[in-house]
Amino acid sequence: MGGLIKSSVAKKFAMALSGLFLVLFLGQHFTINFSSVISPDTFNEWSHFMGTNILVQAVLQPVLIFGVVFHFVMGIVLEIHNRKARAINYVSYKGNRNSSWMSRNMIYSGLVVLAFLGLHFYDFWVPELVHKYIEGHPEDAGRYYGELVEKFQDPIRVILYVVSFIFLMLHLLHGFSSSFQSVGWNNKYAKGLRGFTVAYAIIIPLGFIFIALYHYINNL
Ligand code: HEM
Repeated sequence: MGGLIKSSVAKKFAMALSGLFLVLFLGQHFTINFSSVISPDTFNEWSHFMGTNILVQAVLQPVLIFGVVFHFVMGIVLEIHNRKARAINYVSYKGNRNSSWMSRNMIYSGLVVLAFLGLHFYDFWVPELVHKYIEGHPEDAGRYYGELVEKFQDPIRVILYVVSFIFLMLHLLHGFSSSFQSVGWNNKYAKGLRGFTVAYAIIIPLGFIFIALYHYINNL
């Protein structure tokens, strides 16, 4: 068992499972945020539900935070493991001849997404915690849309977000499709699934870019 946990296959499996979980979160997060472009009321309603529902706050949110930290820590561990293996097997490691640029740079695209999360938490999550638990304001179900739009009035922030979403796309382009291989999914649906993962990896980050630019341009 100890050997299995230490093995690179087990690490890849854990990375894939946590990554798939984060991809699910991303789809849900995108759907709620995209509603801000269509209907401010719907965005307020959904955000209020997510921000006050006890199940979301006490179960989903801690699981999500754990998933993010786990994926990040395991990613670093896997990278160190791979570097060591490469140093030993350098003869068979032929860089771009047997792997894609994106697969070789997952650690860097991942670190950019992590840096983005730092900024993103500072922008949205920290003010939310301060609002609710430190300043103790009464619940106001109509405040979310205004808070979101206000953040996207700063062009520097919009640029940082857009650049981060491009790195998110690169990360997902390799990560999402290879995650199914890592969990052993290899049957007649594998090819179709790959098409879906590529489409998802492109459409979701482009959608996030659209949301950020929309709120910036809409309020010029
Ligand atoms: C235009 C794009 C985005 C917008 C407008 C946006 C908006 C928000 C908002 C308003 C919150 C606060 C939720 C709360 O009140 O607690 C939030 C939280 C969060 N966002 Fe985003 N987000 C965007 C993109 C992303 C991306 C690309 C990721 C991941 C790579 C991400 C990850 C998170 C996480 C992990 C949280 C904390 C969730 C929680 O409340 O537990 N967001 N986002």
